[in-house]
Amino acid sequence: MRNEYYEFLVDANLNEETFAMIKPDGIENIVKIIEMIYSAGLKIEKYEVRHLDKDILKEHYAHVIDKPFYPELESFMLSDNVVTMIISGDDAVSKLRQLMGPTDSKEAGKDTIRGKFGTDKTRNAIHGSDSRKSAEIEIERFFKQKQKRITR
Ligand code: GTP
Ligand code: MG
Repeated sequence: MRNEYYEFLVDANLNEETFAMIKPDGIENIVKIIEMIYSAGLKIEKYEVRHLDKDILKEHYAHVIDKPFYPELESFMLSDNVVTMIISGDDAVSKLRQLMGPTDSKEAGKDTIRGKFGTDKTRNAIHGSDSRKSAEIEIERFFKQKQKRITR
C-alpha cells in the first residue's frame, strides 16, 4: 500500500533490494561470500546458478562494451557459471557496494569480497548494482524478463 509510511520507508532505504552476481572466479568461495553478505546484515531473497550468453552480457555491460578490455571481460564471464542474486536489507545497495570493495581487486581492502577473493580488475569475484535504479533494471533483466519468457 503506497501511503505516507511507504514513502518514508522508501526514502530511508529501509528494506531495499539490490542485484548481485557472483562471477566465475567467485563461485568456489561462494559459501564464504554468502557468510559475508549475512554478516553485513543483508539477506538473499532469490538466487540462481546460470550460464550467461553474449546477448545478456552485452546488455549488462553496455556501459563498457566499447572499452579495450571488453573482449577479455566477455570471455571471462562466459568461462563458467555465475550465481545471480536478489539481496535485501536496509541500505542494501550501498552496503553491498562497500562490502564488495572497488573494481580493482588489488586496491580492495582485505575485509572486502574483492580484496579476499578477486585477483585484478577483470577477475573481481562479484558484481553489485551501483544505484537503486540500476538494481531495479538488473533485477528485471536477470529475474523477471527470463520469467516472462518461460511462462509465455
Ligand atoms: P560491477 O559491479 O561488475 O559493475 O563492477 P564496477 O561497478 O566496480 O565496475 P564498472 O561497472 O565500471 O565495470 C564493469 C566491469 O568491467 C568491472 O567489474 C570489471 O570487471 C570490468 N572493468 C571495469 N573497468 C576495467 C578496467 O579498467 N580494466 C579491466 N580489465 N576491466 C575493467
Ligand atoms: Mg558497475
